[in-house]
Amino acid sequence: GPAELRSILTFTVNLARTAGTLILEGSQAIQSASDVNEKKNSVDLVTQYDVAVENLVMGEIQKAYPTFKFIGEESYSSGTHQELTDEPTFCVDPIDGTTNFIHGFPFCCISLGLIYKRRPVLGVVYNPFLEYLYTGIEGQGSYLTRGSGQPQKLPLASPKPLPSLSKAQIAIEWGSDRSVPAITDKVDSFLKLAGDSSTVPGGKMAQSLRSMGSAALNFSMVAQGGLDLYWEIGCWPWDVCAGIVIAQEAGGVVTGSHQVLASASTDFDPFKVTSDVLTGRKYLVIRSIPDTPNET
Ligand code: IPD
Repeated sequence: GPAELRSILTFTVNLARTAGTLILEGSQAIQSASDVNEKKNSVDLVTQYDVAVENLVMGEIQKAYPTFKFIGEESYSSGTHQELTDEPTFCVDPIDGTTNFIHGFPFCCISLGLIYKRRPVLGVVYNPFLEYLYTGIEGQGSYLTRGSGQPQKLPLASPKPLPSLSKAQIAIEWGSDRSVPAITDKVDSFLKLAGDSSTVPGGKMAQSLRSMGSAALNFSMVAQGGLDLYWEIGCWPWDVCAGIVIAQEAGGVVTGSHQVLASASTDFDPFKVTSDVLTGRKYLVIRSIPDTPNET
C-alpha cells in the first residue's frame, strides 16, 4: 500500500546516500587507477566500484527485506539471471553512467527501482557529485531534493506547451551497442532530429540535442523539466526502472521500455510523437531492443 511504499522509500533514499559516499570515494581512486575492466568491448565498462556498490546495496536490501527479489546490473553480468515474478523486486544499477564515472564527468548516479506485480512502482536516482536526489512513488508524485534542501515537486515549473520539436531540448544517447544495425538507427534518428527538412528528409531540426551519459539522469531531467524528450535504443531494465516512475509521476510518457518491465511496444517510431508534443506534454521516449543481449 501507499504507506508501505513510503517506508520503503525512506529505506531506499538512505541506501542511495550511503552508496553515494562509496561512489565518490571510488571516483577519487579511479582517476589515478588502471583497473577498469571491459565487459564486451572498449565502450562497455565495469569497474570494481560498480561491483562494490552493488554488493553493498544487495546486502542491505537482503537484511531489510529478505523476501524481496533482486535484479542488478553486475549480478546479471556475472550470470545471475533473476526471473521477473509478481514479487517485489529491486532493480538496481549501482553506477549508471560508468563511463562518466571513469572520466570524472560528474553525471552519474545510483539508480534504485522497485518493481511490484511487474510494474515499476518506486524509484530513487541519486547523483552524489551534484547531490541531486530524485524520488518517485507510483500515484504519489516525484520530487527533487538538492543538497540538504527540501524536496521540490517535479516538474519544477509547469511545462510550457511546445509549439514543435524545433523548440525542444532532446537527449539522445549512443550507448555501448555499436553494431551496424544499432548505430545506423541511432545516427539516422540523430540526423532526423537535428537536421533541417531542406537537407535531411523528414528533418525536425530540434532546438538542441544532448548526451548526458546516464539513462537514469536523462529520465530524471525530463521529470525536472530540463529536457523535453529522451530517446535511446537498447537500455537495460536497471537503467530505466527507477527513472520510469520518476518521469511518469512528473507527467512524462514512457514508451517501449524493456520487455522485463512488461511494456507493450518494442517497435516505436520516435517521430510519431510529434503531434503529441504539440499538445504541450513533456515526452520521454525510450526504445529498446528486447532479446538482444548486449553483454555476455
Ligand atoms: C549506460 C548509461 C548510458 C546509456 C546506456 C546504459 P551504465 O549505463 O546509462 O548513458 O547510453 O544504455 O547502459 O553502463 O553506465 O550503467
